[in-house]
Order: sequence, then C-alpha cells, then structure tokens
Amino acid sequence: MIILAIETSCDDTCVAILRAEKQKFKVLNNIVSSQVKLHAKYGGVYPTLAKREHQKNLPIVLRKTLKAAKASEIDLIAVTVGHGLEPCLWVGVNFANDLAKKLKVPITPVNHVEAHILANFIGRDRTLIKLPAIALVVSGGHTGLILMEDIGKYKLIGETRDDAAGECFDKIARILGLGYPGGPKIAAKAAEYRISNVEYRINLPRPMINQKNYDFSFSGLKTAVLYDFKKRSPKVRKSKEYVRKMCFEAQQAIIDVLIKKTIKAAKDYKVKSVMLGGGVAANQELRKQLEAIIKKEIPNVKYLIPNLKYCTDNAVMVGVTAYFHWLKRKQGQQEVSVNANLKI
Ligand code: KG4
Ligand code: ZN
Repeated sequence: MIILAIETSCDDTCVAILRAEKQKFKVLNNIVSSQVKLHAKYGGVYPTLAKREHQKNLPIVLRKTLKAAKASEIDLIAVTVGHGLEPCLWVGVNFANDLAKKLKVPITPVNHVEAHILANFIGRDRTLIKLPAIALVVSGGHTGLILMEDIGKYKLIGETRDDAAGECFDKIARILGLGYPGGPKIAAKAAEYRISNVEYRINLPRPMINQKNYDFSFSGLKTAVLYDFKKRSPKVRKSKEYVRKMCFEAQQAIIDVLIKKTIKAAKDYKVKSVMLGGGVAANQELRKQLEAIIKKEIPNVKYLIPNLKYCTDNAVMVGVTAYFHWLKRKQGQQEVSVNANLKI
C-alpha cells in the first residue's frame, strides 16, 4: 500500500510517501522543510510564526513530494495529532482531513512520541527486533523512558519533570550565544574541546541521577550553566576555551543522566532491546557512550538507533507508525482531531 504522511507538530513541515508491504518499507519521497533560520532569531520556536509557515509551506511541500507517486495511488493518509504545539498540529490535521476527503481515502492519527520510537523500524526487519524494549525518547519537546511490550503497547515509566533534554541543549546554547537549535551547536563545540590547562573548573550537577525512579529534571542544569556564565568575566565568557569547555561539560551532564536511567530501566525490566529516538538521539556522543555501556553492562541486550535523518522530525516515521496500526485494524478514520497533550 502507499501511504502519504504529514508531520507539523513543531517547526518542521514534513511530508513523505512510502510503500509498505509485508512489514517492510520503501521511502518514495521524504521532504523536510525546516524553519530553523526563521526561529533562530528568537532562540526557540515561536508557535504562531511556525503555524503561519506551515500554512505557507505545506501545499508546496506536498506538491514536491507528490512527484514520487500519483495522488490516485495513495491508499492511506497519516498525520501527527499530538503531542506538540497545538496551532502547528492543527495545520497538518486540517490539511490531512481535507486531502483524505478529496482523495476519498482513510486517515490514521499518529502519536508523535510513538513515531519517534518506531523510527527504529525504518530499514530494519521487523522480525529481528526483539521486544520488550526500553525506548529513550529525547527531543525538544519530550523526554521519556518508555517500556515497549509490543507495537501499540507502551508504558511510560519516566519523564521529565520540567525541561526536555533538547530544550536544555537549546537553552544552554542561548546562554552561550550559540544560536538555535542548540543541540548540534553544543555538540560541535564540545567536540572541539581538548582537556587543557584551562585554570577554571566547571562543576555541573547531574539532577536526579541517583534517585530510584526513572524521571528526569533538566531545568537546574540550565540554571547552573547560567550561574557559572554570570560569574565569569566578559573576556572569559567570550573565549573559545570557555565556550568549548562549557559545551563539553553540559553535554556530558545531560548524557550521564540519560544513560544512567536508561541502563537502570533496561536492567530492572529485563528487556531484550534498548532504542533511542527523537532529535537528541542524533547526538553522536550519546549514541556512542550508550552503546559502550550496553556492551559492557548488558551485552545480551540489542541496541537500536534510527538513521540520523530519522531522529529529528520527519514524516517517514509517521507513515511507518500509521502502517503498523493499519495492520492491526485494517481501517482508518474519515477525519481526525488534534490532542496537543497526547500521552503515549
Ligand atoms: O525531535 P525533534 O526534531 O523535535 C521535537 O520533537 O522536539 O528534536 C529537536 C531537538 C532540539 O532541541 C535540538 O536541539 C535537538 O533535538 N538536537 C540535538 C542534536 N540534534 C538535534 N541535541 C543534541 N545533539 C544533537 N546532535
Ligand atoms: Zn519530535
């Protein structure tokens, strides 16, 4: 079957077309129109502006995507209905509802967090993925540990009590004047850091790392960065060495907490796989360090990470999620609605 998928939950206008057969996928087209340059001015996503951009971009992106398949070939439409920025979600949902009506095809609502998890199924043989799994979903709007017993069967066992991990990267980047989105900028500066004889020390907290639950908290870490930044002289704040060292320390503090809780959850629930998902899953240090610890501490557990292009927001993961739900029910809906606070 041919699925057309739409994703507009944050600041990327995404449309993809995929062919799904026997639990395998072929991506026919995948377009992500990023609004990063626009939002960079504000240091974060500005929802009303993002909504307007989605409205402007969606018809253009759809037209480009449709070069890969005829509209008449589409069997199913998939659209993200939550969780996300409500005005942005509505643009995608209204557009998808209209299109479904026009093409006379069913539509399937998709949970954004589930889509980030199922990004791990793109390009992999479904039968080789061993469940149960622990999925760490880390993005700009979400940080959670999810126990996945089957596709469609999830239990949220831990989440952030304040800022999401990606939001923490973004806010720290803003403090350091690095621009938006912060994650890739901090990762790049951290990679330039070499342990040298810089005379100052930076001590950042690892919030909640030793607590027995699986929850996270990142706002204190951001505040600790701000305090350290404020106590430095203007010369130090602007120096390459300080920025690199701070990026390295902040990235490591975030990674330490994410890894500790993920490994704890994998051991406690005796899972067969650990999966990563969401924009922060594009972080090379997180990918590498988590792999090393799994190999050392739980070597029988499989470690799955999505291809880099399917970590940050995209519509392929939305189409894949809709397909798996379709397989179970074999029917879609005539119309779907937004639920901005949708939980998994
Ligand atoms: O999944 P995503 O595209 O959108 C949401 O659902 O929020 O994630 C975007 C987030 C941003 O906060 C961005 O800074 C972060 O993912 N991010 C990264 C990296 N690439 C993107 N964080 C750390 N390291 C990266 N390489
Ligand atoms: Zn996302």
